[in-house]
Amino acid sequence: MRSLSIEDAETLEPGDDHYRAYVGPPGRFGLLTQLQLGLLFALGLEETDTVLDFGCGSLRLGRSLIPYLRPGCYFGLDPNLWLIDDGLAHETGEAIRAVKQPRFSGDANFDCTVFDTRFDFIMAQSVITHAGPAQTAALIESASKSLKQDGVLALSYIRGEESTPLPGADWTYPHNVAYPPAWLEETARQHGLVWRDISWFHPGAQWALLVRDETRLPDDATMGLHGRPTPRWRAGQSATS
Ligand SMILES: C[S@@+](CC[C@H](N)C(=O)[O-])C[C@H]1O[C@@H](n2cnc3c(N)ncnc32)[C@H](O)[C@@H]1O
Repeated sequence: MRSLSIEDAETLEPGDDHYRAYVGPPGRFGLLTQLQLGLLFALGLEETDTVLDFGCGSLRLGRSLIPYLRPGCYFGLDPNLWLIDDGLAHETGEAIRAVKQPRFSGDANFDCTVFDTRFDFIMAQSVITHAGPAQTAALIESASKSLKQDGVLALSYIRGEESTPLPGADWTYPHNVAYPPAWLEETARQHGLVWRDISWFHPGAQWALLVRDETRLPDDATMGLHGRPTPRWRAGQSATS
């Protein structure tokens, strides 16, 4: 299954054994690249920034972010190293290792400190959507230790009700788990971070930003077009087709 073409992989289910399907619905591969990169730019990303792509998978973000950043500035962490291998093989090309010197880790302990680097941004797209409370708390705690003073942790999550029970299992994949918002806000607070939901578009989850210093948070109203792609029509086709 791993050798299927991009077109043939479109029919696979999320979680299937192909680099475009394992990380989510294959038809959303492009959109999730845009949404993550667009959010980082909206938050002020510069080419000299250090970025940890936590749970980087098959480089849905990395395939655009690694070329943009200066050499040595991209860090990707994912215990499923085959996803990184396939992302490099089919999206960026292996030569990017020498050109941009991305660093990778297969650490599975929800530990952002493994690179011994302080980050301007940590992106954890669709990670705590599958993680248990101990894992989510470990991610938030270690992110707090690894962010620069003005660093930002951006993550997507499934927003439950206040009455939603905490997830019972450690890692549920590809099934999603919801969190009660108050638990997330309190866990962030315990580790010196402020939790803020933002309206940046996501097709199946909610985005949140975690920062040490509340003044780093953007005014939501200034965040450009809020990430929702403008509807397209193609030349040669009618607008309604
Ligand atoms: C839904 S995918 C999202 C991947 C990527 N963030 C993206 O947006 O394409 C979840 C990712 O979490 C990774 N993962 C599983 N266990 C993990 C762990 N202990 N630490 C970090 N990532 C993990 C999976 O391998 C998978 O790549």
